[in-house]
Amino acid sequence: MFIGIIVYSKTGNTLSVANRVKQAFEARGHTVSIDQIKADVDEKKSKVNLTHRPDPTIYDRVVFAAPVWAFTLCPVMREYLTVLPELRDVNVYGIVTQHLSRPWLGGNRAVKKIRRLCANVGAQMIGEGVIMWSHSDRERHIEELAERLASL
Ligand SMILES: Cc1cc2nc3c(=O)[nH]c(=O)nc-3n(C[C@H](O)[C@H](O)[C@H](O)COP(=O)(O)O)c2cc1C
Repeated sequence: MFIGIIVYSKTGNTLSVANRVKQAFEARGHTVSIDQIKADVDEKKSKVNLTHRPDPTIYDRVVFAAPVWAFTLCPVMREYLTVLPELRDVNVYGIVTQHLSRPWLGGNRAVKKIRRLCANVGAQMIGEGVIMWSHSDRERHIEELAERLASL
């Protein structure tokens, strides 16, 4: 399969997880492309201007990955997913990273948001994960998540 990993990452954490997921899919023989959403963000005014909007329709499956901001999905990914083209019956995955080490402090809500916005365009989320950057088991969590998603 041709897998697209569409990622927004401001400081590199989510991008590094995306790379690990890429490796896990590739180890199973899939072709994987990472495409980064680019945006100008005015955090004070919560304004987002997307300057690169990856095309999700060219892939067999799509992984959406983004950080948690203010206890929910960061506004860049929210803006991107809000105007997705139709992805009827496409299987997708949702990954978020956050600093805090409890998934209910934003991560779960962010994943739920990805699932809902994908469902709006007909896509079904078949795998998800929250990576907590300050968790002492972070590396193991990333490894497990990558393996779990690639095996679905
Ligand atoms: C504006 C902003 C808001 C954030 N809000 C939260 C938050 O509510 N909870 C949390 O755990 N981490 C929060 N973080 C930390 C990021 O979610 C975390 O560092 C993430 O891994 C960054 O991913 P990135 O390096 O791919 O940008 C915030 C970071 C930024 C820049």
